[in-house]
Amino acid sequence: MRKVALLTSGGDAPGMNAAIRAVVRTAIYHNLEVYGVMRGYAGLIEGVMHKMDLGSVADIIQRGGTILHTARSQEFMTLEGRQKALDNLKNLGIDGLVVIGGDGSFRGASELHKLGFSVIGIPGTIDNDIHGTEFSIGFDTAINTVVDAINRIRDTATSHERIFLVEVMGRSSGWIALESGLAGGAESILVPEIEPDYNEIVDRLKRGMGRGKRHSIIIVAEGVDSAYNVSKEIEKRIGLDTRVTVLGHIQRGGSPTALDRVIASRMGALAVELLLQGKSNLMTGIVGTELITLSFDEAVNKKKTIDINAYNLAGILSI
Ligand code: F6P
Repeated sequence: MRKVALLTSGGDAPGMNAAIRAVVRTAIYHNLEVYGVMRGYAGLIEGVMHKMDLGSVADIIQRGGTILHTARSQEFMTLEGRQKALDNLKNLGIDGLVVIGGDGSFRGASELHKLGFSVIGIPGTIDNDIHGTEFSIGFDTAINTVVDAINRIRDTATSHERIFLVEVMGRSSGWIALESGLAGGAESILVPEIEPDYNEIVDRLKRGMGRGKRHSIIIVAEGVDSAYNVSKEIEKRIGLDTRVTVLGHIQRGGSPTALDRVIASRMGALAVELLLQGKSNLMTGIVGTELITLSFDEAVNKKKTIDINAYNLAGILSI
């Protein structure tokens, strides 16, 4: 292994820059040449990559987004597209690739491995929906952003004695909703993994009001339904006005938390070490405080379910 490349793919996530920095600096530490590919697999197909040095990753550990930019490439889904990408890598004499992204990115990485190229993945998505790792890079920052928003909404909800619905991202996963709702003390948390029980949601609101509580916060994962539809359903049943806040892409930006920077740094270094050991077709992950690896196939074919104990606890604590 003499030359390696790296790219970021899919939705960006805070901490991706910290992972880029770790990959580049670990590679240089081991006397490897390292190339940054722009715009994910799209840039790999177009051959848009440049050599990186120690200075090219200076002053980025604290920045959200990705300095390599990112994209979702349709062309890479085709064998022809992947072959073009492979030719570009080979023409530059690159022997290994690090892919930082989510499950879609790892499906692409696995296909590249099947063509005989060495690829290691690092989980980077705010959704935290990748099987085999407790954390993906960006999740911790995203839930902290949501908790900050909940705190602010709570101020005005209390002042006006209102019911607020906060819609959060996560695609088809409820991780962001569950963890931010638990940390933010939400009255109800709606996740796509569990059918919403509107009677229970409304009963809970009424019980709170019976105790003199005049405001409530309900977290709605985008994978359940639009928070506007959910609000209509609740208004119809309880006969009270509600307000809706859709947090949207605010959740994907911002300076990464210390946790995201630390796991990004550790996984970035491990990815390079795995390539040096001649490994491929693996994703890095973290379980407890330990770094682990698992195959792309396992990571993408198994579903990561939400922590049902945490979900039940949130229900108990907002009784
Ligand atoms: O996968 C990350 C994510 O932010 C999801 O939570 C969300 O559903 C999706 O990306 C939004 O994608 P886009 O930025 O293309 O609108």
